[in-house]
Amino acid sequence: MADEPLILGIETSCDETGVGIVRGHTLLADALASSVEEHARFGGVVPEVASRAHLEAIVPTMDRALTEAGVTLADIDAIAVTSGPGLAGALLVGVAAAKGYALAAEKPVYGVNHLAAHVAVDTLEHGPLPEPAIALLVSGGHSSLLLVDDLARGVTPLGATIDDAAGEAFDKVARLLGLPFPGGPPIDREARAGDAAAIAFPRGLTAAKDLAAHRYDFSFSGLKTAVARWVEARQRAGEPVPVADVAASFQEAVCDVLTSKALAACRAQGIETLVIGGGVAANSRLRAMAEQRAEKYGIRVRVPRPKLCTDNGAMVAALGSHLVAAGVAPSRLDLPADSALPLTTVSV
Ligand code: KG4
Ligand code: ZN
Repeated sequence: MADEPLILGIETSCDETGVGIVRGHTLLADALASSVEEHARFGGVVPEVASRAHLEAIVPTMDRALTEAGVTLADIDAIAVTSGPGLAGALLVGVAAAKGYALAAEKPVYGVNHLAAHVAVDTLEHGPLPEPAIALLVSGGHSSLLLVDDLARGVTPLGATIDDAAGEAFDKVARLLGLPFPGGPPIDREARAGDAAAIAFPRGLTAAKDLAAHRYDFSFSGLKTAVARWVEARQRAGEPVPVADVAASFQEAVCDVLTSKALAACRAQGIETLVIGGGVAANSRLRAMAEQRAEKYGIRVRVPRPKLCTDNGAMVAALGSHLVAAGVAPSRLDLPADSALPLTTVSV
């Protein structure tokens, strides 16, 4: 609808410079500039390289988004920007840019939580999120289960990883299999040709003794070590490593734990909607397994298309739009870039 507010979102928390524009729940532009190739040879994101790349990309990406949406800065009703969590120097570029544009064009600015934005982006594909919902948030830096009562005002954490994030596990296992960074997409691809039942890798924090204290928590570091030991044993024996089988068996273990804990949370709380967000939500096996298992319990799974799962500006605009619609007040112009912004703070 033309009278819904026009929101621009800026994302710079990691290695993607994203500017998205939405009207209500309608996506009008999603411009992205990635520095991922500059980090690939280091096997992980180098913060200083990312900050510099954001600085170079932010103005052209902004211009591209406005052109794509066919609007000017004057037409925008509010600017939303990722305030945290993320890399401090990277966040600073986006926050400073948002403040500059907001001041110049006299627009309100909303500093928002990157993780809540990973949940909000699904509204661009599936419309308003029924509340309460359970959210499974799986990215390169975070893995959490959340109760979403009111996404505009706060979420309740139910559990989180006690060591590595799910995406981090994909990245580390890819590295030891000789696959490129980031590791999620190549493992996803390799796994299609592999046998997911070939190797019985451990399912962290699922034993009865662990469930008492960690019902909704995750642990992926033991799994990563198990994969490393298995691969080393093959190499020591002078045998080839069946990359596709290892990738498929590893992926199966991650997806098994993520989906079983997320659905257990839905059932325990009597909640019928599970929304999955973050880069790992792009994983084809996770999407299929969640759907398949949820169907048995009459639970609806909402996962946005893969391009919206990984970091982008549209997710920030989507959360901004949700905040404006809910009547949440804008941030002050001195809003912080907070690398450790808690999950429970949706906007600053
Ligand atoms: O949300 P995101 O783009 O950035 C963070 O906020 O961290 O997530 C990036 C993570 C990386 O670890 C990447 O390997 C993982 O998401 N990822 C995937 C897939 N695509 C991206 N993991 C599994 N399967 C995929 N298809
Ligand atoms: Zn992210």
